[in-house]
Amino acid sequence: TEETLVLVKPDGVARGLTGEILRRIEAKGYSLVDIKLVEPSRDLLARHYAEHEGKPFYEPLLEFMLSGPVVAIRVAGNRVIEGFRALAGTTDPTTAAPGTIRGDLGRDWGLAVQQNLVHGSDSPESAARELEIWF
Ligand code: GTP
Ligand code: MG
Repeated sequence: TEETLVLVKPDGVARGLTGEILRRIEAKGYSLVDIKLVEPSRDLLARHYAEHEGKPFYEPLLEFMLSGPVVAIRVAGNRVIEGFRALAGTTDPTTAAPGTIRGDLGRDWGLAVQQNLVHGSDSPESAARELEIWF
């Protein structure tokens, strides 16, 4: 079995979608190992998003992630890293496939693409690194 870090981003928490997102994770058969509501510091987010430092969307992304509480979840399951990425859908909610969290629930009101409800680790190395940062 494998573990991944899932975040319900500030837009997901603010829109009251935490329960729906947890429902989809559990319905798929994954286990919730740990969960908490976090108000992340800029320092924590800078570590989490270190790979994106210097990119044009980096500052807006940090501002967005600082805009409200986030739910951090340690999720376990068979191939859960790849599996949760599939549940979440592609990065941009506008084109994310129906049936995915971002495709079904993500909105595009002409806002920046960074508002896409969830984060999921993208590799075993990322999962280990990110779980250490958040838990
Ligand atoms: P995460 O699961 O959140 O890591 O999403 P991802 O792996 O699909 O995307 P990536 O790691 O490449 O980018 C991290 C986050 O930065 C994304 O989820 C978006 O919120 C935001 N982001 C990525 N690319 C862009 C972009 O081109 N423009 C803007 N505005 N935001 C972006
Ligand atoms: Mg990513």
